[in-house]
Amino acid sequence: MNEPFHVPGLTRRDFVAAGTAVGIALAAAPRASAAQDASKPPLKVALIGCGGRGTGAADQALRADPGVILWAVADVFPDRMDACLAQFASHEAKDRVQVPAERRFAGFDGYKAAIASGVDVVLLCSAPHFRPMHLAEAVAAGKHIFCEKPMFVDAPGYRSVLESVKGARAKKLNLVSGFCWRRSNPERATFAELEKGTLGTPMAMYSCYYTGPLGTNARKPGWSDMEFQVRNWQHFTWLSGDQIVEQAVHSIDKINWCFRNEPPKSAVGMGGRQLREAIPERGDVYDHFAIVYEWADGRRAFLNCRQQPDCYFENTDWIAGTKGQCFINGWGPTHWMKDPAGKVIWRYPTNGPKNNMYQEEHDELFRAIRAGQVIDDGDWMATSCMMAVLGRMAAYSGQQVTWEQAIASTESLAPAKYEMGELPMPGEKKPGQYKVG
Ligand SMILES: NC(=O)c1ccc[n+]([C@@H]2O[C@H](COP(=O)([O-])OP(=O)(O)OC[C@H]3O[C@@H](n4cnc5c(N)ncnc54)[C@H](O)[C@@H]3O)[C@@H](O)[C@H]2O)c1
Repeated sequence: MNEPFHVPGLTRRDFVAAGTAVGIALAAAPRASAAQDASKPPLKVALIGCGGRGTGAADQALRADPGVILWAVADVFPDRMDACLAQFASHEAKDRVQVPAERRFAGFDGYKAAIASGVDVVLLCSAPHFRPMHLAEAVAAGKHIFCEKPMFVDAPGYRSVLESVKGARAKKLNLVSGFCWRRSNPERATFAELEKGTLGTPMAMYSCYYTGPLGTNARKPGWSDMEFQVRNWQHFTWLSGDQIVEQAVHSIDKINWCFRNEPPKSAVGMGGRQLREAIPERGDVYDHFAIVYEWADGRRAFLNCRQQPDCYFENTDWIAGTKGQCFINGWGPTHWMKDPAGKVIWRYPTNGPKNNMYQEEHDELFRAIRAGQVIDDGDWMATSCMMAVLGRMAAYSGQQVTWEQAIASTESLAPAKYEMGELPMPGEKKPGQYKVG
């Protein structure tokens, strides 16, 4: 292959940078005028989860429409809200950041007050564990929603989210997904080409997300067990869903895109935590997974992901169809299809239009709200996330797990209570011993 096949040095930081706080500093020309446009009724926004991605999402919302006002924020920790808002001090739309102390809501219940603060839109960007409850509250209150991935971490979360998705649809609420590749021009063009049948029928797909470990937060004096775990949420399965659900779900979403939102029949796979340091910050998540998804008619998809230092990095996708193969490297960007003889039959042009997929999410959301239209990403978003949970169940248990078994699971990863207090460290998940409940 002549094209760059892997992404040298790709780290979580690179991925996140395009869509987060770093994006504020690097943002190009404004998309919406800095000042509020009096001809447009204001659209008030609440941000829930004020970390890197939430800060980026708020920035993108402000740029998407000159009527957007950042009106309220919620986060478990006050320092995260302050740090987020401080980044808007010199923002070109800083006059539209109107979040006085009384609209900064801390604690596990802060999201309720933020959603009830008179906003039109909510941006759901907290640690994934809490998304089902945040989503349910937003839908009950009739708010338009931007929802970061993943939507849940367990099967009870999946079932709750399906109810919320139905509720949002019934109320004609926009529900825009944070699966950013779905709003990237080269990916959209590639999957549209697949839909046209240029590759025939996709029979197999290999997706990989080989990257390095994420950062940790050392325990500070005064932190309870709960605070320690929430501050290190990526490393605890109950909070993040594990690496496969939190991060590699982007790759799984492309598999789901390719197979047209048809859930697989079953999954089998493996994983482990080979190189996680033996420190509490590293929680209980695995550091590698290899999953095979199988559909009823025999089609298969292969997902490999890894968060290990000093190893090969790659984050690409490959599809085998009945009429050829397709390669997708969103970072290249390089997207092509070849026939069985190796002749290129389609390629996304090197000078083809590129877009900022994170900005596109918000441009489309606010355009739809203004036009009275509804974007409904809920169903496919939920399927992609449940496929990731299914893969995790297969790897943790060491068993073949069916879709039906996975979605019926009653295993809730929730702690006994949401309180800053004692919380035992979770135990090890050993294949052959761990049971899918
Ligand atoms: N689409 C993408 O490319 C992309 C990139 C990065 C992160 N994400 C997703 O965005 C979400 C946030 O990730 P991040 O990188 O911003 O993490 P982060 O740690 O920087 O921020 C998460 C924030 O949520 C807060 N939080 C945790 N529990 C909460 C609760 N119950 N209520 C309110 N706030 C709570 C934390 O205190 C923290 O400030 C995750 O779901 C992650 O998977 C998506």
